[in-house]
Amino acid sequence: MNHANLPKKVKIVEVGPRDGLQNESTPISAGDKVSLIEQLADAGVTYIESGSFVSPKWVPQMATSTDVFNQLKRKENVTYAALTPNMKGFEAAIAVNADEVAIFGAASEAFSKKNINCSIDESLERFKPVVDAAQKAGIKVRGYVSCVLGCPYDGFIEPEQVAIVAEKLFKLGCYEISLGDTIGVGNAASVQKMLQAVSARVPTDKLAVHFHDTYGQALTNIYTALQSGVMVVDSAIAGLGGCPYAMGASGNVATEDVVYLLNGLEIESGIDLDKLLKAGWFISDKLNKKPVSKVSNAYRAKLS
Ligand code: HMG
Ligand code: MG
Repeated sequence: MNHANLPKKVKIVEVGPRDGLQNESTPISAGDKVSLIEQLADAGVTYIESGSFVSPKWVPQMATSTDVFNQLKRKENVTYAALTPNMKGFEAAIAVNADEVAIFGAASEAFSKKNINCSIDESLERFKPVVDAAQKAGIKVRGYVSCVLGCPYDGFIEPEQVAIVAEKLFKLGCYEISLGDTIGVGNAASVQKMLQAVSARVPTDKLAVHFHDTYGQALTNIYTALQSGVMVVDSAIAGLGGCPYAMGASGNVATEDVVYLLNGLEIESGIDLDKLLKAGWFISDKLNKKPVSKVSNAYRAKLS
């Protein structure tokens, strides 16, 4: 079969331990989070967003991030990253030797306010010292733009607005910009338009896509993004996740589903699907729910 315009290799950024768990009300112990992260690393995942240093009043599930980082047995080839919205978060991340940090802005003013309690411009001001400090410490900074295909408060977001914020984060010093469909409303057509606008301002090989799967379009959107030249895909084990400040948003696309797709397309991810499935069942059992991954549930049904 001819899979024209698709990359040979894709990097998976596993956001389950952060984006996946941040929206779960069942408390998961630091020990169980560590076990999940270690299982993911063992499955061949080389980039794991392992926690976030945000206000525990805003996101209680992430309050154990310091313990998680301190307890992790790290693998050399794996990047263990954390979200850091401001200097306080950055200092906490540095204190536990996070390998990389991520700052997170939005293309929508209303979402920026709800999520990080400031305007887009104010957020960029807060991010500046974080990027400066990270650069001094030799730590790479990833940048997120949320609401790239729609906002739960402002509705439609112009692709050009996404491009402008992405470019600002890139120029600030982020090495990669992850474009977040926070509420999972995008489709192949809107993804293509948005990527076209962003690619005019930020090189495509510096972009990642981050799709929540609320409307079931995430895999199609990923395929579209791969055809547009994107080679980095964010996903969450078992399809966990959601943002507590994006009403109605469901989990990220499941890593199991993405790896199944990549395997079918003969695109290398370096991830062992069998081990990945087990990691997904581990955390789903802890949460007492079924994975939101058709691939995962199909394999489990076959096994039983
Ligand atoms: P604020 O209230 O404006 O901050 O919150 P502040 O500086 O005025 O401080 C207020 C209190 O928060 C103080 O504590 C600070 O010490 C504390 P108090 O004196 O009241 O006890 N504080 C902190 N504590 C721990 N860590 C910190 C920190 N900073 C201040 N870093 C803030 C601003 C950003 C902290 C707050 O709005 C917050 O924590 N928001 C949570 C945002 C979040 O985690 N959202 C989910 C992640 S983003 C996401 O999921 C989207 C993404 O996946 C992409 C996509 O899907 O689109 C990335
Ligand atoms: Mg997200």
